[in-house]
Amino acid sequence: MNNRVTVPAIMELKGKRKITMVTAYDYVTARWVDKSNVDMILVGDSLAMVMLGHDDTLSVTMEEMLHHTRAVARGAKRALIVGDMPFMSYQVSVEQAVTNAGRFLKEAGAQAVKLEGGAAVVRQIRAIVDAGIPVQGHIGLTPQSIAQLGGFRVQGKTADAAKRLLDDAMALADAGCFSIVLEAIPAPIAEIITERVHVPTIGIGAGAGCDGQVLVIHDMVGLYDRITPRFVKKYEDLGSRMLDALNKFHDEVQRGIFPADEHSFKMKPEEEERLRSFLRNE
Ligand code: KIV
Repeated sequence: MNNRVTVPAIMELKGKRKITMVTAYDYVTARWVDKSNVDMILVGDSLAMVMLGHDDTLSVTMEEMLHHTRAVARGAKRALIVGDMPFMSYQVSVEQAVTNAGRFLKEAGAQAVKLEGGAAVVRQIRAIVDAGIPVQGHIGLTPQSIAQLGGFRVQGKTADAAKRLLDDAMALADAGCFSIVLEAIPAPIAEIITERVHVPTIGIGAGAGCDGQVLVIHDMVGLYDRITPRFVKKYEDLGSRMLDALNKFHDEVQRGIFPADEHSFKMKPEEEERLRSFLRNE
């Protein structure tokens, strides 16, 4: 039976209940997310940083994104899977954007794609949507543009910049996006955008007024300790718990506590004795 969360179901949640999305990049994590009540999984290009150790998201490739999306699709049968289009996989031309968006659905098992940008990428979004592929927009702090933005900074702090964000959000909704991620923008702007667009807004560092929230799973469970943005809430400290487990393992091996009898395989005593006797007579 197919009980997958669908794009229309996400859109219908606007104004009814809050929508949730977290990132996942591998089979095991996707299985855990799928067992939870979280609505959507984003295979985010943040994997460049939290999985592959890069300093930003720019260098991750289409092939790497597809590889991780396939692993997530093997693990998640319920949550809606959104594949994040990496830097330079949709900016060059409309054809390039449609072809690469299609690969996420056709080759990797995603149900939708996300791409960053406002009015500048509307032609691409229209063409992808026309090809039957649901698109999630992403405005505000768009990490693929950090060179232009001058770093990971809050966006839309002036009235002019906020108005541009609102125009971008309206353009994305008109172009057919089924939802829009709002990243690192002042809460009042996110609230105004949420009131004015007919599609759900999914906030990250955009306040409580959005229709939903998204977090990077490595941040929320305390696995990534290189940078923790102010907007992250750490729901768990799995990094410290993993460190404790590793040190306990090392210590128990030194002290002969692990492996214990229950972790070892036995041999019949007569077979052991026969072996010992062969060896004695060798
Ligand atoms: O790549 C990602 O994880 C994202 C979220 C922060 C929205 O784009």
